[in-house]
Amino acid sequence: MKHRIFSGARPTGRLHIGNYLGALQNWVKLQDEYDCVYCIVDIHALTSMEDTSNLQANIHEMLLDWLAVGLDPQKSILFVQSHVPEVTELNTLLGMITPLSWLLRVPTFKDKVKLQKENVNYGLVGYPVLMASDIVLYKADTVPVGEDQLPHLELTREIVRRFNCLFGETLVEPKAKLTDFPNVPGLDGKGKMSKQAGNHIEIAMTEKETADKIKTAFTDPARLRRSDPGHPEICNIYKLLGQFDAEGRNGIDEKCRNAEIGCVECKNLLIKAINDAMRPIRERRKELEANPKALEGILTEGAERARVIAQDTMRLVRKNMKLL
Ligand code: TRP
Repeated sequence: MKHRIFSGARPTGRLHIGNYLGALQNWVKLQDEYDCVYCIVDIHALTSMEDTSNLQANIHEMLLDWLAVGLDPQKSILFVQSHVPEVTELNTLLGMITPLSWLLRVPTFKDKVKLQKENVNYGLVGYPVLMASDIVLYKADTVPVGEDQLPHLELTREIVRRFNCLFGETLVEPKAKLTDFPNVPGLDGKGKMSKQAGNHIEIAMTEKETADKIKTAFTDPARLRRSDPGHPEICNIYKLLGQFDAEGRNGIDEKCRNAEIGCVECKNLLIKAINDAMRPIRERRKELEANPKALEGILTEGAERARVIAQDTMRLVRKNMKLL
């Protein structure tokens, strides 16, 4: 039997090229080797969201990006977390065997407490239990994640071991599949690309929007004039160019250091590289956008397929916990 992958992402709306290089490209590749389940985790999003007025639009925009980059509903199950309500039941049940002390020491929880002091809700501390519920409900044995999610995965494994020890072999203990996330720098030269920082390029931007955004990007701050020697190792444009057109970047290092090439020329190379790479994806996105009914159908069918697995797991969980 094929191994099963489960991964999820909160519906943050339109994704950027950092999401693409970091996670999506990898998810697309995994489809050929694994039985994949990819979930838009809308309930998780609620742990940090009081105003839900954009939630449906964000789910829609993210799904468009997923499909445009090549997540394929023929190969994988694509669905929205809340469409399969069994996950909330499992979350409640796993909550009964998860010591609060385990949850209070999770690093992402401590970060969130600082970040949203005014909204430290019960669901927030339970975030990793809901994530464990996602993974085990769909019997996934492999979970592709970035390094920041490793503590959550470790906790999932501990919950599974505890459950199986208390109620007999029931749940599959998953392994993290650490994705080699390229460090995608933002356009402001201050750390990684993120939507929050506004230093990003959306997959769905037009070619002109992409160009305008890159034209105003920071480069090497020490390079004030065209004649100043540059330092490509600290230049975000140089790094991004390597991720989109490694070959085209050959020789630029030396030219930059000798001030034989200017930042404007480098930016033009990057604009072309990104627009070339995104063109087919953007075209597909446009086609998908024109047919919202089809998108709805994909999610309905995804939830139906997901639910079959979920109900099977829940029967066993209830039986082994003596709820039946
Ligand atoms: N916590 C993950 C994130 O913020 C999202 C997520 C929810 C997830 N459930 C999951 C990831 C299950 C992997 C598996 O990125």
